Amino acid sequence: MMSVIENKVVVITGASSGLGAETARHLAKAGARVVLGARRIERLESLSSELRLHPEAMQKTDVTDRAQMQALVDRAVNLYGRVDVMLNNAGLMPSSMLDKLKVDEWDRMIDVNIKGVLYGIAAVLPYMQKQMSGQIINVSSVAGHKVGPGGAVYAGTKWAVRAISEGLRQEVKPWNIRTTIVSPGAVATELINTITDSDIAAGMAKTYEKAIPASSFARVVEFAINQPDDVDINEVLFRPTTQAY
Ligand SMILES: NC(=O)c1ccc[n+]([C@@H]2O[C@H](COP(=O)([O-])OP(=O)(O)OC[C@H]3O[C@@H](n4cnc5c(N)ncnc54)[C@H](OP(=O)(O)O)[C@@H]3O)[C@@H](O)[C@H]2O)c1
Repeated sequence: MMSVIENKVVVITGASSGLGAETARHLAKAGARVVLGARRIERLESLSSELRLHPEAMQKTDVTDRAQMQALVDRAVNLYGRVDVMLNNAGLMPSSMLDKLKVDEWDRMIDVNIKGVLYGIAAVLPYMQKQMSGQIINVSSVAGHKVGPGGAVYAGTKWAVRAISEGLRQEVKPWNIRTTIVSPGAVATELINTITDSDIAAGMAKTYEKAIPASSFARVVEFAINQPDDVDINEVLFRPTTQAY
């Protein structure tokens, strides 16, 4: 029997490392046609050759640039004729206490974690409305449910992702579009390398000693996509079993 996921066209942002790259591996193995976006094109090229993707199934993409995001999605549609799933995954987490005034990093998180998701939605929505089907998967976090010292802005961006996703969910019913929020706890990726504050970095490194592999996230995404068309997995929140907060 063919799985639901087979031949689905899945656009993945932040596909050059961590959760995005691992999900591309899982979905490609499950028979999906993945199209990869990120800024580090050499990473995309090596993943693309590892997965034996179509040579055009990737695009250098900065998600803070709306035209580049649109070009990524247009590439998927030009190549495969449709876009079934948009995984808005790109993000960064340069956490710090607010009084450190790392305002450039606040701006960056807002631009990538919030506006990048919105640009991803804008790029796929007209196609999905026309198709009368599609699925938009946005990556939030446990930090989209809880906020702690040092995490104010990052948590703010991840709460925003959940608010935007819930509004989207309600609005896209007429077009049979599914919406999913995936909210992971600590997963081993390059994410904590984006922290520049040495105190926060040390604490986070300790927390991430408990981190679970990126395959945990990839399985959740695969599960959400692999449901029958009339089943909409709206949110999955998961953590390492040993993570308390
Ligand atoms: N790992 C965790 O514990 C965890 C927990 C909760 C939520 N998350 C969320 O999961 C998502 C993926 O993060 P990760 O853990 O996989 O971290 P990661 O390994 O650092 O990957 C982040 C990805 O985002 C991309 N990215 C960053 N800025 C970008 C931009 N301006 N344009 C396009 N792509 C950009 C990076 O690609 P380039 O640098 O090549 O552009 C990279 O592929 C993020 O939204 C993060 O907030 C992670």
